Amino acid sequence: MFNRIIKWQKIFETKEALIEYFGTKQTVLFKNTFGEIMLARAGENFYAFENKCPHQNKSLVGCVIDEGMIVCPWHKYAFSCETGRGHALYLEKYPIKFEDDGVFIGKEGWSLFG
Ligand code: FES
Repeated sequence: MFNRIIKWQKIFETKEALIEYFGTKQTVLFKNTFGEIMLARAGENFYAFENKCPHQNKSLVGCVIDEGMIVCPWHKYAFSCETGRGHALYLEKYPIKFEDDGVFIGKEGWSLFG
């Protein structure tokens, strides 16, 4: 029987390293084995999305954060940073967690072994 799991992957050693990676930007592109990830920052909150707008599957590079929404640079569709929802579509969102040993993003998957 397959079980739904979240696979976590460390992306930075510390929260400070993540903040440094952003510099003065609200959104930054990051690549790992999950693919291209669009990291977004709204104040002290951090988010991670697949770098693919669900409207026309274009890259989110150049997107901005506006009042808790991530706004695609192509046609200005806005998606909630909290849920990924907007215009009856969803951005693929990855959870982020901060642990003593690093910053991790998660991706849902399936496991035969739990
Ligand atoms: S491709 Fe993102 S709004 Fe159209």
